[in-house]
Amino acid sequence: MGNPRSGNRFRVFAHFVTFSVLFKSFLVSAVVLNSLNVDMDLSHVARRVDERFLSVTIDASLMAEEKFMYLLGSPKLRTLAKALTPAFLRFGGTKQDFMKFKPQSEYYIKKRYSGDSLPHLGPACDKFELPPLLEEELKRDWAVQVLLLWQEDVRGKYEQITFSEYAVDLLYSFVNCSGLELIFGLNALLRTPDNVWNSQNAELLINYCERQQYRMSWELGNEPNSYEKKAGIRVNGSQLGEDFLHLRKILQKSELYSSSHVYGPDIGQPRDHRKDLLTGFLESGAKAIDACTWHHYYVNGRDASLEDFLDPKVLDMLAVKTDEVLKIVNSLSPGKKVWLGETSSAYGGGAVGLSDTFVAGFMWLDKLGLAAKLGLDVVMRQVLIGSGTYHLVDNNLDPLPDYWLSLLYKRLVGPEVLTVQVQSGSRSQKQLLRVYLHCTNKASSSYRKGAVTLFALNLSKKQMVIKLPEIVSNSTVEVFVLQAAEPGEDGLRSRFVKLNGDVLKMVDERTLPTLRGAELPPGEHLQLPALSFAFCVLKQAAAPVC
Ligand SMILES: *[C@@H]1O[C@H](CO)[C@@H](O)[C@H](O)[C@H]1NC(C)=O
Ligand SMILES: *[C@@H]1O[C@H](CO)[C@@H](O)[C@H](O)[C@H]1NC(C)=O
Ligand SMILES: *[C@@H]1O[C@H](CO)[C@@H](O)[C@H](O)[C@H]1NC(C)=O
Ligand SMILES: *[C@@H]1O[C@H](CO)[C@@H](O)[C@H](O)[C@H]1NC(C)=O
Repeated sequence: MGNPRSGNRFRVFAHFVTFSVLFKSFLVSAVVLNSLNVDMDLSHVARRVDERFLSVTIDASLMAEEKFMYLLGSPKLRTLAKALTPAFLRFGGTKQDFMKFKPQSEYYIKKRYSGDSLPHLGPACDKFELPPLLEEELKRDWAVQVLLLWQEDVRGKYEQITFSEYAVDLLYSFVNCSGLELIFGLNALLRTPDNVWNSQNAELLINYCERQQYRMSWELGNEPNSYEKKAGIRVNGSQLGEDFLHLRKILQKSELYSSSHVYGPDIGQPRDHRKDLLTGFLESGAKAIDACTWHHYYVNGRDASLEDFLDPKVLDMLAVKTDEVLKIVNSLSPGKKVWLGETSSAYGGGAVGLSDTFVAGFMWLDKLGLAAKLGLDVVMRQVLIGSGTYHLVDNNLDPLPDYWLSLLYKRLVGPEVLTVQVQSGSRSQKQLLRVYLHCTNKASSSYRKGAVTLFALNLSKKQMVIKLPEIVSNSTVEVFVLQAAEPGEDGLRSRFVKLNGDVLKMVDERTLPTLRGAELPPGEHLQLPALSFAFCVLKQAAAPVC
């Protein structure tokens, strides 16, 4: 497809100017302090990620009290979830290893919500809807539940819980009706006296799901590296690998699941003995998994600062950890896909006032850009909804800034990763401008062939102008600039985000707003305001590989 070193390669000149101007006043005459050259290669695809690259999770703690599974019947939540497809929904997390399936159990929800208002399950999705009054009541109770879950997390002692067929039905109905693909995390802490996985309970669940014809894939265990801390049980990598092979055998006996996928081992980010765990696991169990999953958080939610979210050194840590994992996987199981099976800004439920505000977008968008570039195939965001502050949709089921960012990413960014590099400028300037380039997503947008999407983050306090290069000078550019809804540092902590100047919100609970780009005429300069990020669709870039 042509010579990557010529033809379609071009430069973007990014000029830093000394003062800030409003985004919409494009024609700035400014003192140019510095210019950054950005090289792009439009002639070959550096790598291709899964089309479900941006995926989401729901923490298993939502099931700790079954009635809250009803929240998944909210029409608003379903509207929001549907707009993020295609995507996986991973249902798992710490609580998954403290949960037992209990068929035909007596459960609170059925008693409490019996009667005509009980939502009906089944393929008719519009019938399964949480009535508004119940939604309000559940949301009120959820506020209390969130506190209980948080306390349990702080204590680090997890209560054993059971869940019924009905809870599974509610979960499946949610994924099926919103078009997500379910990955269910099984409990790996059910073990025999020989410390081998006891699969009995999982088999009950698998049989039930098969009877219901639920199409799904599976995981086994969550962060096995911390089992000793959480449950006083130590499981080594080779045994965990054996456990996965055992799961695979069980699935192979099932007609529906014989070719279903298994992911694991969902270890925490590599550090000391976790690497041995991953190594041991892959040595014995690599052939049982379809992708190798690990978890990543940048910082501890309890002591994270606003500055962490904007610190290039913090953002770059993902590259270091990814590299360590890829080295291990590539040496023991070459070609195996590697996924971030659970990931967010800050662990421990997120950083209060940060993980649920505009500033979280710097970590999220940079993670999406970097992970794709480095070789990860899927990134599952902890969480779509649920306790903690790192959710995309808050406890009132309203979308937060990272939801809107995810939605734009889905619409505009395709799976083909292209090479883009900041070429000149000082080291610190380069670090403050972070750019990524993909083919524009053709599946969910109406852009024509050859379009590319550049996304860029400005971590600096200086205004930046991007001058588009000659080769796309004939192309119109559609820009989508995301900024905090309020100015200044307070704005960074805003729970609202502006797209090209307008605050994003749902039109009503079943309707999302139109995400309008601002069109720049050919040859116009791009500006990325201070502390903002943006997607730029170069509509007629005519990249041969896009
Ligand atoms: C939802 O369920 C129906 C009926 O079982 C099935 O045809 C459809 O493919 C499912 N959709 C998803 C997204 O799983
Ligand atoms: C791993 O654990 C299993 C079960 O406890 C044990 O039989 C085995 O010897 C251990 N293997 C290693 C390498 O420590
Ligand atoms: C842009 O348009 C000019 C004039 O029509 C044309 O000569 C040039 O080849 C075009 N450039 C590209 C990259 O298409
Ligand atoms: C980044 O944002 C700051 C505002 O804090 C702005 O002054 C600066 O010009 C922007 N820098 C870049 C590289 O766009």
